[in-house]
Amino acid sequence: MTKRVAILISGGGSNMIKLVESMTGDHPARAALVLSNDANAGGLKRAAEMGIETDFIDHRPFKGDRPAFEAALHARLMQAQPDILCLAGFMRVLTAGFVDRWQGRMLNIHPSLLPKYTGLHTHARAIAAGDTEHGCTVHEVTPVLDDGPVLGQARVPVLPDDTPETLAARVLVMEHRLYPAVLRRFAAGDHRPVMLP
Ligand code: GAR
Repeated sequence: MTKRVAILISGGGSNMIKLVESMTGDHPARAALVLSNDANAGGLKRAAEMGIETDFIDHRPFKGDRPAFEAALHARLMQAQPDILCLAGFMRVLTAGFVDRWQGRMLNIHPSLLPKYTGLHTHARAIAAGDTEHGCTVHEVTPVLDDGPVLGQARVPVLPDDTPETLAARVLVMEHRLYPAVLRRFAAGDHRPVMLP
């Protein structure tokens, strides 16, 4: 049976677009909802243009009450009845209470070769460390930030004149290949990691 996928975004949603575009033909899943914590997230408009149901739940009125925000998020997600939740540039930390409800069904993409560089500013940190290789990871979400079983990784070289911006752009190209490849495999029930290139 075709799986239903909800995608959570906070920004432009370029990964979300690649995921939505990938879910056609014999793909085992379809996009059911794109949900954001920010009404102005550019990705919401793009998703609507692609014919996907969209919504937002602004985190700010919850004033730091994460469980209350997450309860609203959960309630909205349940309306869409997703089988799989994809975090795609969703920039809110989720508590164990939320994650536990979706564990085993929630994926995230992170712009580093985990376990290296959890959290923010991953590209600048890779450059500062003198790394010659950097990349991105898709993993199952567990209550520990940027942790959980790795479902795929893609590597790029770090070039001598890289800035965080040029490196981020090179990684993003690979994110756009990796996340759809992982989702297709995961939705088919195959949790073996995808390693690119
Ligand atoms: C992507 O680079 C993604 O890996 C990163 O945010 C960007 C979102 O771009 N995610 C994180 O840093 C999560 N910790 P997008 O909105 O164009 O997909």
